[in-house]
Amino acid sequence: SQDSPINTNCLTLTRFILKEQKKHPEATGELTMLIMGIQTAVKCISNAVRKAGIAALYGLAGDVNVQGEEVKKLDVLANDLFINMLTSSYTTCLLVSEENKTVIEVEKERQGKYIVCFDPLDGSSNIDCLVSIGSIFSIYRKSSDGDPTVNDALQPGNTLVAAGYALYGSATMMVISTGDGVNGFMLDPSIGEFVLTDPGMKIKEKGKIYSLNEGYANLWDPAVAEYVLGKKAKKAGARYIGSMVADVHRTIKYGGIFMYPATADSPKGKLRLLYECNPMAFLVEQAGGKATTGKMRILDIVPTDIHQRTPIFLGSAGDVQEIIDLYTKHN
Ligand code: AHG
Ligand code: MN
Ligand code: MN
Ligand code: MN
Repeated sequence: SQDSPINTNCLTLTRFILKEQKKHPEATGELTMLIMGIQTAVKCISNAVRKAGIAALYGLAGDVNVQGEEVKKLDVLANDLFINMLTSSYTTCLLVSEENKTVIEVEKERQGKYIVCFDPLDGSSNIDCLVSIGSIFSIYRKSSDGDPTVNDALQPGNTLVAAGYALYGSATMMVISTGDGVNGFMLDPSIGEFVLTDPGMKIKEKGKIYSLNEGYANLWDPAVAEYVLGKKAKKAGARYIGSMVADVHRTIKYGGIFMYPATADSPKGKLRLLYECNPMAFLVEQAGGKATTGKMRILDIVPTDIHQRTPIFLGSAGDVQEIIDLYTKHN
């Protein structure tokens, strides 16, 4: 019965994705296999994160990545897991990773029709102090003929097939959308399955929390400065974790706004379009929220470089609309 401690009919991520697939008679099952591959990578990363201190996985891997950031050991481990589980799923032809300078072309005999852009470990600066970290992924269908090229990865976010993230927090959770709403699945370590716990996630129209790194206050443009001043006048709640996945998950759950604006030093902001801003914008819009650069919808940006950055404001539609109006006013 339902109230017995062991649920004999738990809705696992695998079952859920299969059910979604059956809604599309033309579906080949490739997307299902792709997401199962990502699920396996996430379970392995979660396991590594939980024992990183014991397995001597803290600290630096000893090199610097294309972003100019010092690479952590968990960054490398997570990247290898995503690449291996994706290429061995026979569903992808091209991969874009934060940790790889150029696109990764999948070998011919293992190619499928999907392109995946991913941030294997997000919030790396928080690893060694045990603050929540995550993984982010976005899935496109290859639309061109012939062999995959970097141009196949430069599609705007409004062509996304699916996107999601994993949050390695007090529990490990996967939040995913295949274009028909957002659903959250908690990892049950006793059975090693992601179980549906947050069906149909929706973000409230307005929230009380604003989230951005106030250390850059002297570098903000007038619209951001005025927006934050307004928040302080209303004694809004300030929360900033410094891991995008954790800040975005809180924004979806509690409402409010997450911001990584451009600054005088970084005119395009810091967060990367293909594997941080697009997937998060897709999910937030699917949950009823908004995601903008301040001047245009994130998902409408046509990329020109796989590691390009963009300013981003995302969250409750009412809160994000306020910053859009301020950019209009200050233009
Ligand atoms: P990553 O660890 O994948 O490089 O991403 C870090 C990002 C993102 O997680 C977070 O929102 C942002 O860096 C924090 O940047 P600041 O430390 O400049 O606030
Ligand atoms: Mn990084
Ligand atoms: Mn990141
Ligand atoms: Mn990263």
